[in-house]
Amino acid sequence: MSIMTITGKHKEENWGISSSAYQIEGGWNADGKGPSIWDTFTQTTDTIPDKANGNVACESYNRLNEDLYMLRALRVKSYRFSLSWSRIFPDGTRKSLNQKGVDYYNRLIDGLIAYNIEPIVTIYHWDLPEALQKVYDWDKAEMIDIFNDYCDFCFATFGDRVKFWITINQPQTIGWSGYGLGNMPPNVKDPGYRPYIVAHNLIKAHAKAYHTYDDKYRQSQGGLISIALNADWAEPKDVSIRREVVAADRAMQFQLGWFAHPIFKNGDYPDALKWQVGNKSEIQGFPQSRLPSFTEEEKNFIKGTADVFCVNHYTTKIVSHITARLSPESYEYDWDFKEEEENDSPTTAIPNQKVVAWGLRRLLNWIKEEYGDPEIYITENGVATEAQTTWDDSDRVFFYKAYIDEALKAYELDGVTVKGYIATSLMDSFEWLNGYKVGFGLHHVDFIFGPLELFHILSHYSHKHESILLEFHVKD
Ligand code: BGC
Repeated sequence: MSIMTITGKHKEENWGISSSAYQIEGGWNADGKGPSIWDTFTQTTDTIPDKANGNVACESYNRLNEDLYMLRALRVKSYRFSLSWSRIFPDGTRKSLNQKGVDYYNRLIDGLIAYNIEPIVTIYHWDLPEALQKVYDWDKAEMIDIFNDYCDFCFATFGDRVKFWITINQPQTIGWSGYGLGNMPPNVKDPGYRPYIVAHNLIKAHAKAYHTYDDKYRQSQGGLISIALNADWAEPKDVSIRREVVAADRAMQFQLGWFAHPIFKNGDYPDALKWQVGNKSEIQGFPQSRLPSFTEEEKNFIKGTADVFCVNHYTTKIVSHITARLSPESYEYDWDFKEEEENDSPTTAIPNQKVVAWGLRRLLNWIKEEYGDPEIYITENGVATEAQTTWDDSDRVFFYKAYIDEALKAYELDGVTVKGYIATSLMDSFEWLNGYKVGFGLHHVDFIFGPLELFHILSHYSHKHESILLEFHVKD
């Protein structure tokens, strides 16, 4: 079945494109913005190619109209962007309110609405205000109320126009890369404990923000609210061996279920996590599991705190069972499985992100079965290409055709309730630990690197190709 012949039925579905504040805005200290942990990290680390940072990035803070122009040209129905917490509250709290930051987001939201593009707003996409990191940090429960107050402010200020909220982007990445591997800020290397503590607080923080929306704003504003969870598809190495199938399911639970199970199922962690971490902790001689537990009251508070299922998806891994080492304690060794790349699939500019489109269809089906047929939005999907080498963008075109086709198969043939598809990303931007070495953009950005930041201002945007999304809309 060709993609084109069935697109006509999908008029009500949401086709969108994404970005995030630190990756595109620049203006890192403009007009009173406070530093975030990504500002601090990128100024000091030498782990990012070319020592790149988001100081200037795509200059979206000063080039709002160009962003709107590109969005309009793509004819997307929605734009998923994130708010920079420390642009709004430089010290992370309401008392430091920076009106110019609020004005920027008001202009962006108003601009989108004027063009009939729905804003999908991520409240927190990794760039925690540095001032909060210094005092509290996500391993402390105080952060829950502080985050809630920030969300409350966002709902009150932007919620008359924003009807789709995402509280947190990829809490699994925050927990594991930020506090386990320590390769992302705040660069804590504590693989056996802190990821679990941080995740626990992030789940509670999300749930609290959800209830704030529900109690104070939903009735008058009528929007929806969720959290964006990252999930690779885990394919068993040999589907005829039960142990491998169980290992692959465990992989799904450790990455996605860690957050989705409490939020979409019963307020509690998946059995696989409770069993694995509990069992290992006991053998390791701990008096209790390294995985914290929720009280009954907390479970009731967390359960059901998302109106739709938002999933960010990039690739598939081949998973097989192993018995991992016991020491040192680590989330990674708690898994008891190993991951390999899918041999037959094309590579991308990020070595461990192969193009395995069929994995998306399986992932969508797994979510449907596991979480009782929720409405699903694919809130990120895209491919990394070498940033500055070529104008031939056929790898990206191939990627989108293949992945969207699999999403449509899940929708049409398997009956998965896929409500939206958001491509990553609007334009090449600061790709975190990859700096500007790779690009995910449907638009190319010519980042001109020079000794002075001023040179970056010369960067300009240009279309890489007529977007695949545009192609769909034209066919509508
Ligand atoms: C992040 C995006 C990023 C993408 C590609 C995702 O995990 O949420 O912000 O653009 O990875 O690096």
